[in-house]
Amino acid sequence: MIFGDKIMTPRLRMRRLVEGDLPLFLAWSHSDTAHGEYLTPERIDVRDGRETIASGACWQEGNRVFLIELKDAIPIGTLRYWLRPERRSCAVMAVKIADPEQRNKGYGTEAQKYLIIHLFSRLKARSVEMYTDINNRPQQRCLTKLGFELVETLNYDDHQVKRVGHLFRMDVAHFSNNPVYRYHYE
Ligand SMILES: CC(C)(COP(=O)(O)OP(=O)(O)OC[C@H]1O[C@@H](n2cnc3c(N)ncnc32)[C@H](O)[C@@H]1OP(=O)(O)O)[C@@H](O)C(=O)NCCC(=O)NCCS
Repeated sequence: MIFGDKIMTPRLRMRRLVEGDLPLFLAWSHSDTAHGEYLTPERIDVRDGRETIASGACWQEGNRVFLIELKDAIPIGTLRYWLRPERRSCAVMAVKIADPEQRNKGYGTEAQKYLIIHLFSRLKARSVEMYTDINNRPQQRCLTKLGFELVETLNYDDHQVKRVGHLFRMDVAHFSNNPVYRYHYE
């Protein structure tokens, strides 16, 4: 499943961003459509985007952005994780299936599932967390299927937009006991 700097899943390939991905990365970053109703565009400028990719800032062990592609190399979104600076055994994930036509086909669930396996098995995380807008039903459906539990409801700031959201968490014991991570039906 994990080959060098890629994560392969049954239908997807998740890889490091390279310079050639910059135009798409920037276009998605400014697009309301790519973010959907419950995420605010980050609006990364060209210089920062180029620098982020070239410097490897988004490809550190503790902070990584994957480009999600279909097996025929069509890019459909991004998946990021970072380790909490104050508690590095806890990873936080953020996912975006940027092409609306590719939503609701199971790709969001699949991408997150294989990153979760990587975080617990390779990086030895003890817990994985995600924030979602309180109304983001598709993402909450994904998280429930993947074994996450609701921890708390809180106010948070999403690129200057105030949102009410849920914090979901899964710890390593739940991961180890969950058949979703042992049997792969996709
Ligand atoms: C949220 C998101 C990652 C989900 O990924 P996805 O590939 O669309 O979701 P999946 O196809 O894996 O489906 C997950 C579940 O949500 C359900 N679902 C999908 N779209 C839905 C919708 N519009 N309304 C209600 N449920 C929906 C699916 O039926 C599925 O549940 P099921 O297996 O019980 O049928 C994706 O829609 C997305 O990136 N949206 C925009 C950005 C975003 O909101 N990111 C998450 C921030 S926390």
